[in-house]
Amino acid sequence: CGIVGYVGGQSALDVVVAGLKRLEYRGYDSAGVAVLADGGLAAAKKAGKLVNLEKELVDRPLPGGSVGIGHTRWATHGGPTDANAHPHLDNAGRVAVVHNGIIENFAALREELAERGHTLLSETDTETVAHLLAEEFSSVGDLAEAMRLVCRRLDGAFTLVAVHADQPDVVVGARRNSPLVVGVGEGENFLASDVSAFIAHTRSAIELGQDQVVELTRDGVTVTDFDGAPADVRAYHVDWDASAAEKGGYASFMLKEIAEQPKAVADTLLGRIDGAGRLTLDEVRIPGAVLREADKVVIVACGTAFHAGLIAKYAIEHWTRIPCEVELASEFRYRDPILDQRTLVIAISQSGETMDTLMALRHAREQGAKVLAVCNTNGSTIPRESDAVLYTHAGPEVAVASTKAFLTQLVACYLLALYLGQVRGTQWGDEIHAVVRDLARIGDDVERVLETMEPVRALARSLADKDTVLFLGRHVGYPVALEGALKLKELAYMHAEGFAAGELKHGPIALVEEDLPVVVVVPSPRGRSVLHDKIVSNIQEIRARGARTIVIAEEGDDAVVPYADHLVRIPATPTLLQPLVATVPLQVFACELATARGNEVDQPRNLAKSVTVE
Ligand code: G6P
Repeated sequence: CGIVGYVGGQSALDVVVAGLKRLEYRGYDSAGVAVLADGGLAAAKKAGKLVNLEKELVDRPLPGGSVGIGHTRWATHGGPTDANAHPHLDNAGRVAVVHNGIIENFAALREELAERGHTLLSETDTETVAHLLAEEFSSVGDLAEAMRLVCRRLDGAFTLVAVHADQPDVVVGARRNSPLVVGVGEGENFLASDVSAFIAHTRSAIELGQDQVVELTRDGVTVTDFDGAPADVRAYHVDWDASAAEKGGYASFMLKEIAEQPKAVADTLLGRIDGAGRLTLDEVRIPGAVLREADKVVIVACGTAFHAGLIAKYAIEHWTRIPCEVELASEFRYRDPILDQRTLVIAISQSGETMDTLMALRHAREQGAKVLAVCNTNGSTIPRESDAVLYTHAGPEVAVASTKAFLTQLVACYLLALYLGQVRGTQWGDEIHAVVRDLARIGDDVERVLETMEPVRALARSLADKDTVLFLGRHVGYPVALEGALKLKELAYMHAEGFAAGELKHGPIALVEEDLPVVVVVPSPRGRSVLHDKIVSNIQEIRARGARTIVIAEEGDDAVVPYADHLVRIPATPTLLQPLVATVPLQVFACELATARGNEVDQPRNLAKSVTVE
C-alpha cells in the first residue's frame, strides 16, 4: 500500500493526492484521504483507482486544511470496498489512521474492542488501530505517546500514520517492517512509504528504522522507539528522479520485485504457522469434511502460475497422498475433464482476472467441484467466484514477467498442501516438521541468494549474443527449468526451452552443440540422492557433446564441480522447497540478459500483465 502524510503551509489535500498519484503503483484497489480542518476531521475514501477518489473529492469537496494523510490500498484483510478503504476512523470521528502491512492479532483486538462497546464498521485489521488510538489518546492526551502504547500491543508487520482532531498540528507515524520515510521541508514535513511521494517538494529525507515512532509538526521531526526513548535515524539526500524513486532506485520494477522476494515470502507466511508448527489457514473456508473427502486435486493456471502448480503437485502428492493433476487452464475445459463433488480444484492466478483460468474454474464448479483460489489480488474475479481463497501477500506486481508473485504462489501451495495433510490427519513424520521449520525461515535463504548474484549477471551479459539457452531439471527442478526458460523467452526474446533432464536422451540431446549454454538445476545431494546422481550423469552427457554447463547446485555439493563451466550456489533446502531458492538466479539471469540485449524489461513486447481474453 502507499501512504502519505503532510503538515505544513500548503493545502494538505493537494499535497496528499499528488503524493498518492506517485504511489499508486504500490496499490490501486481503493484510496482515501483525511484532513484536519475547522477543529474537526474530514475524510473521503473510494474503492477502485485513485481517479474514483478524485471524482468524489470534486463531487463532495472536503474543507481545506494543512494537515492530512492519504492511502492507496492493496487489500490484504477485507475486499476492496469503500468501507474497507483507508483511512479508518474511531467511532467519534476524531482519529484517522492509514496502514500498510498485516496486524496479526487483529481478531483478538477486535473482540476486545467490541466488548468495550466499540462498533467496528469494516473487515480490516487497520480499524482496530483507530479505536485503540482514540482510547489511549483520551488518557494520555498526546498522539505520539498514544501511538507508542498502541504499537506495543500489535503483532505483525505494519506502518501506520495517524492524525487526531484534538491535536491538530501533528501527524504521527510508526514503523515496523514496511518502509516509512520522512521528507523534511521548510515549514512543512512529509511522511510517505517512499520518497517518490514528496520529491516534488523536498529531497531531504530521513529513513525510519524498525520499531520507531515519528511525530511531525510544521517545524519539527521527533523520532523515538516504541518505549519513547530518542532514536537514531538516518538522514540522506535523495538524488533519484521521480521514475527511479518509484522503483526504489532500481532500474526496473522487475529488479525491485526480485529484490522484494524475501519480504513477499515472509509476508505470505505471516500468521499462518503457529508456534507449535501447525497451519492456521482459517481463511480457507472450505469445510474440513470436504477437504477430508476429496479424492483428487486438480490445479489450473496459466503461464508462471502454471509452473507454480506443477511444483505444487509434487508437494501435494508427497505430503498428502491425494492424486493431483495440473493442467493449463486454456486446455482444461475443452478436454471434458472428469470432475465431481470430491474433486478439489485449485486455481492459481496473480491477477485474479486471467480469462482462461476463470473459464476453467467456472467449468469446474458447474461439474460440482469445489474451487480454491490462490491469488494475489484481493477482491478480483477469480477469488470472488471461488469457494475459498488463500491470498498471497506479494503486494502489487508491476513488471509483466512474474517474479515475487511466483515465489509467493509456491509458498501458498506449500501451506495448502501441509494444511490438507493436517486436516486429513496424515501421519506426519519428522520430515514434515523439518519442512515447516525450514519454510518459516526460507525468506532468509532467498535473501542470501540475492546477495550472491553478481557472477550470474556477468555470465548473463556474456551470453547476450547467443540464440538458444536450454534448461534442465528433475523432480521439482523440472518446473523450475520451465520457468527459467519462460522468463528468458518473455524478457530476452531468445529461444529457450526447459526439459526434464531424464527426457534429454529421448530427443532434446540432439539440440546440443558446441558452446550451447545449458542451465541445469541440480537437486540436493542429501535425501533423494538417486535423483542427484542421475542429473550429474546428465551434465556429463551434455558436456561431452560440447555444451557450456551452467550448474545451479546446493552449497557443499562437490560432485558437480568437475562438470560445471559456471557454478551458481544456492542454500541447502529440503528438496520440495528448493524451487524457492533455485528460481531466483534464473530470474536475475533473464532480467540481465534482456537488459544486455537492449530490451524493455518491465513491459516486454507482445505481452500483457493480465490477459482477460481467452
Ligand atoms: C500473463 C502474464 C504472465 C502470467 C500469466 C498468468 O500471460 O504475462 O506473467 O504468468 O498471465 O497470470 P495470472 O495473473 O493468472 O497469474
